[in-house]
Order: sequence, then structure tokens, then C-alpha cells
Amino acid sequence: MMVIKTSIRVVIFASGNGTNLQVITDQAKQGNLSVDIVAVVSDNEDAYALERARKENIKTIYVNPECYPDRVSYDNALKREIEVLEPDLIVLAGFMRILSKEFVDDFENKIMNIHPSLLPKYKGLNTHERVLAAGDTYHGATVHFVTAELDDGPIIIQEKVPVLPTDSAAVLQQRVHECEYEIYPRAIQWFADGILSTGNAQ
Ligand code: GRF
Repeated sequence: MMVIKTSIRVVIFASGNGTNLQVITDQAKQGNLSVDIVAVVSDNEDAYALERARKENIKTIYVNPECYPDRVSYDNALKREIEVLEPDLIVLAGFMRILSKEFVDDFENKIMNIHPSLLPKYKGLNTHERVLAAGDTYHGATVHFVTAELDDGPIIIQEKVPVLPTDSAAVLQQRVHECEYEIYPRAIQWFADGILSTGNAQ
């Protein structure tokens, strides 16, 4: 029997360099991911992630935070932009804004994030520096569903990396990035396969 794999519609949010975006895009192009990336959204007009998307002929959307008085009105603008695209999944890949509860509720169990730490340790910013300052011997990355609490939703996958005595924050960041490139596509494919549970839905 022939099994036909259907693709899910994915919108990626990114504010910066977009190396995770690039890996996901490459994997999709190579047929390793059952996703159709329908747009890349940014809050940063100069994000290299947008340039990467343009090179891949993916639709780009820039929503300027300065045009909105508060988080909820900004997120409403984001919502207007993306709901017409009917995404099955929103992938946060270095998106540097906290999403409002209203936005998260509107896309409940459909938003994934990757965070550069072994959550629940080191929520927030500067995780590599904080790991080094604490003298931890392990660090890592986590993919999780997004809830209204920062870096707090149900965990989908984590991977550890060692911290070496000679590590700088930059070296450690690169090691964590390499593991992000493994686990984020894997989590997205699990979602596409419909095998993830958030504990309160699906
Ligand atoms: C990654 O380290 C990710 O864990 C964090 O933001 C960074 C994005 O990097 N949320 P890049 O833009 O994908 O290179």
C-alpha cells in the first residue's frame, strides 16, 4: 500500500540570524520534513532570517513593533497577518518577543519554541554565560510548546551537551546550536506525524 504523506503548513517567527530557520528549510527541501513553510515573520526588518527566506522564495512578513502601542495590539497585527495563511504550526526560531496570552490562546498547542538551555533551568536570556558562571558540567537545548509563561510550556525534546573547562560562551553557544539543528527538525516532524500530546489536548 502506498502511504501518502501530507505536509503541514508552518509559519516561522525569527528575529535574528536564522540558522535554525535555515536548517528547517534545508530539511524541508530535501524531503526530510513533511512541512510547507508558508511564511517567515519577523519583528526586525534587518533580520538575516528574512534574507534567508527571500533567498528560498518564502513569503516574508515584517511587522514593525514601533507601529503598535502595546503587546496585545502588536500581537493582533501578527494574528491578522498569519491567520489568513492557516498555519498548522508556528515555529519560533530565535523570535525575541514574548507573545501575549491572547495570541498564545488563539494558537493553543500550535506554537513551538526552541530554548538554549535544559529547561526548566535558565529561562530567559544569556543562558550560556549563566551556565559557565554556575560551573555546570552540562548544558543543552529544549524544544517545547509555548504557553503564556516564558519558556515554560510542555517539553517535547531536550538534548544535553557537555561544558568543557576551556569553553567560552561563544564556543558553548555553537555546541548548543549544533544540537538545536538536530532536535528542532525532529520535534517538527513529530508534530507533523501527529504523535505529540500536550497533556491537555489532541
Ligand atoms: C537559538 O539559540 C535558539 O535556541 C534561541 O535563539 C537562537 C536563534 O538562533 N531561541 P538562530 O537565529 O536560529 O541562529
